[in-house]
Amino acid sequence: MCGIVGYIGKRKAYPILIKGLHRLEYRGYDSAGVALINEQGQLNIYKAKGKVAELETFAADKDTSGTIGIAHTRWATHGEPNTVNAHPHYSESERLAIIHNGIIENYAVLKAGLQQEGYTFKSETDTEVLVQLIEYTQMDKHVDLKTAVQLALQQVVGAYAIAVLDKEHPDTLIAARKGSPLVVGIGEDEYFLASDATPIVEYTDQVIYIEDEEVVVLTVNSQLSIFNYQLSTINGVDKTPQIKRLELSLSQLEKGGYPHFMLKEIFEQPRTLTDSMRGRVNVRQDNIALSGFIDNKERFLNAKRIIITACGTSWHAGLIAMYAIEEFAQIPVEVEYSSEFRYRKPVINKDDVVIAISQSGETADTLAAIQLAKSKGAFIFSICNVIGASIPRVSDSGCYTHVGPEIGVASTKAFTAQVTALTMLALCIGREKGTMSEDKYLAVVRELGRIPDKISRVLEQDARIADFAKTFTYAQNFIYLGRGYNYPVAMEGALKLKEISYIHAEGYPAAEMKHGPIALISQEMPVVVVAPRCGTYEKVVSNIQEIKARKGKVIAVVTEGDEIVRKIADYVIEVPESEECLTPLLTVIPLQLLAYHIAVVKGCDVDQPRNLAKSVTVE
Ligand code: G6P
Repeated sequence: MCGIVGYIGKRKAYPILIKGLHRLEYRGYDSAGVALINEQGQLNIYKAKGKVAELETFAADKDTSGTIGIAHTRWATHGEPNTVNAHPHYSESERLAIIHNGIIENYAVLKAGLQQEGYTFKSETDTEVLVQLIEYTQMDKHVDLKTAVQLALQQVVGAYAIAVLDKEHPDTLIAARKGSPLVVGIGEDEYFLASDATPIVEYTDQVIYIEDEEVVVLTVNSQLSIFNYQLSTINGVDKTPQIKRLELSLSQLEKGGYPHFMLKEIFEQPRTLTDSMRGRVNVRQDNIALSGFIDNKERFLNAKRIIITACGTSWHAGLIAMYAIEEFAQIPVEVEYSSEFRYRKPVINKDDVVIAISQSGETADTLAAIQLAKSKGAFIFSICNVIGASIPRVSDSGCYTHVGPEIGVASTKAFTAQVTALTMLALCIGREKGTMSEDKYLAVVRELGRIPDKISRVLEQDARIADFAKTFTYAQNFIYLGRGYNYPVAMEGALKLKEISYIHAEGYPAAEMKHGPIALISQEMPVVVVAPRCGTYEKVVSNIQEIKARKGKVIAVVTEGDEIVRKIADYVIEVPESEECLTPLLTVIPLQLLAYHIAVVKGCDVDQPRNLAKSVTVE
């Protein structure tokens, strides 16, 4: 969380930084700020509480000149979201300015030491401690800024990506990372710096991904040097930078005529799933080829257990995968919240396969969970969307979902692609192990090829869903029910609603309703029931009867032509018939649309809901 951006070159930095902040706003939007060194060598900092637009208003009549600068959009960790706690932060003498994404865990100890040396603090942030420490080191040891940054970071425990300006050296921009992402874009006589490539893509497609424990020094005369600062010599080792080509286009970062990124991303799903399957699902040859599996077949075939670890929506995709892997590959699966897994001293064996699922590939808890599992010898396979992110980089193997940038904070197209990738993996293992019949394998592979068109059919009901969504803006609570493969879909539907409309919602296995949630049912309570005609359909129909008997309002997601549920439910949304394991790819679509339209009618900020951030790089 938090987005950082920097520029050094010949152009005016401010517009580039502001545009970059808008692109990174998905990472947090509690406050925004910018630091610029003007031609007179003054270091100006402007900050505002709230979104980047507030910063623009605040800075409109200020001196925003300068060809070097750094900027930040914040998701608050230490200290409430106000202007004082907003980044950038000055050092004591106001010679340095810093921006930071991450958490300095030992900031209290460092702060106490600096206070003894006479340093004073204006904010409650851990970040201000770091900039003071760098300045103190610079003065105390009489070293240049790069060395001061290196020495200071050697004392820091935590995760960070930082960028530092020094008004005494207006020709140099310094950045470093450990645990939080950092990309450098290489232009002509200019460099860009950002938490991800989105602020960089319109200027250059040449990038360098900075690694953990590296500091990068960028200068006006087009010099770029990278050092590892944890090595015994303080100068570390000057590394030969590896320049990569960006596979990202500008149009992927725009709304393309939709009012919100979330709606655009929901409607993109027929195409994004086709992209996810391209080169992998071969319907003509009735085959799935997943290179991450093929290259590591033995690890999967010998696995006595598969542990899936993820957070949020990705965790829901993992739960669906548990059903598929156990059904097709007959390997026991455990699905763990990364944050719980990493701290509960889990028993991990060398023959375990750990699957990490993460859209961003940067979620701190998931990254830590796989590092733990890797240290115990487990094989790590990751399903990620962002190419080159930290999680795929530390994994042994994996599968990218290839859905392009997901910008709406509430995840939609990443979820369906994760479910698709995991289903492909389950099919690969099942066929190779001989634990599923060839008929079943072929039926699912062929059906996968039909899913994009079937999603398009579900999307045709958008206007009707938008229409009845209006009825539910009064609701304070929602219940979502589903069974089997569609129980995680119920939880995902509930998560979507609470994330963007701030209505409290819970997802339950439908049969659990009678053990508690049924007490909540009244004519005020909307209940969304995911009830495609498969598996335990009849039992779910009984659950719907139980809700109606207590006057609850039922919105049912059913298979096309279902006349039974149509007679008892208040609202019905139909999805095409499908293989049971693939029904989540269809049933989740109306739930995404329902949450979206309720949030829109309530006037909520759909793409940037309060308190949330898309990429959670803190624990
Ligand atoms: C945040 C996002 C969610 C996402 C979760 C996991 O909470 O708001 O949409 O599901 O992080 O993120 P990941 O990038 O690891 O999938």
